[in-house]
Amino acid sequence: MSNYVIMDHPLLKHKISMIRDERTGTNEFRALVEEIAMLMGYEALRDLPVQDVEVKTPIETCMTPMIAGKKLAIVPILRAGLGMVSGITALVPSAKIGHIGLYRDPETHEPHEYYCKLPAPIDQRCIVVVDPMLATGGSAVDAITQIKEHGGKTIKFMCIIAAPEGLKRLSQAHPDIQIYVGQLDRCLNEQAYICPGLGDAGDRIFGTK
Ligand code: PRP
Ligand code: URA
Repeated sequence: MSNYVIMDHPLLKHKISMIRDERTGTNEFRALVEEIAMLMGYEALRDLPVQDVEVKTPIETCMTPMIAGKKLAIVPILRAGLGMVSGITALVPSAKIGHIGLYRDPETHEPHEYYCKLPAPIDQRCIVVVDPMLATGGSAVDAITQIKEHGGKTIKFMCIIAAPEGLKRLSQAHPDIQIYVGQLDRCLNEQAYICPGLGDAGDRIFGTK
């Protein structure tokens, strides 16, 4: 059984098409990435554990479900993953936020780590790792390896666009995690950019370049 889901909601597809467009400027791009993360988060978090708690309504007291367990941890892969955080905190405002700093070497395309800070106790939290792009898969594989080394156990990975190469690599390297993909694209080009993709996600979110 595969450990990934390619999402198929028309609203999600529409918004992904909008961020692909090279004419979409930084403000709009950022807002759309936030909305896409919220739509994806809604689906990816459907198995969060709940437990009944007592609530007094104006009519009577009842037992009613609320999210149970330690607070969710959202872990963006820096930089571009930062653009997805607010979309998920809009759904789960109490979530804790960790950070993993990785950048891809422009020549080798291998990831290089420069930062890792995760909310404790990480082993007891549902961890949602976010990054808009899953290209070769090197960054995501590395980030999740680091999280596991710090004790993370229940891990989901959410990306907006994936290349088949990256999805296969991540799925094989970490078969125990659940992967959520907004859109599966055709392939990587020689510079390991996703085709058709959306270009450099970090540059488009932060207006750099
Ligand atoms: C981009 C993207 C992913 C990574 C994907 O980040 O946000 O983290 O590349 O590529 P991979 O699957 O081949 O590893 P980048 O390294 O460009 O850093 P940035 O977010 O700081 O721009
Ligand atoms: N990182 C990006 O931002 N875009 C790609 O297409 C590949 C890696």
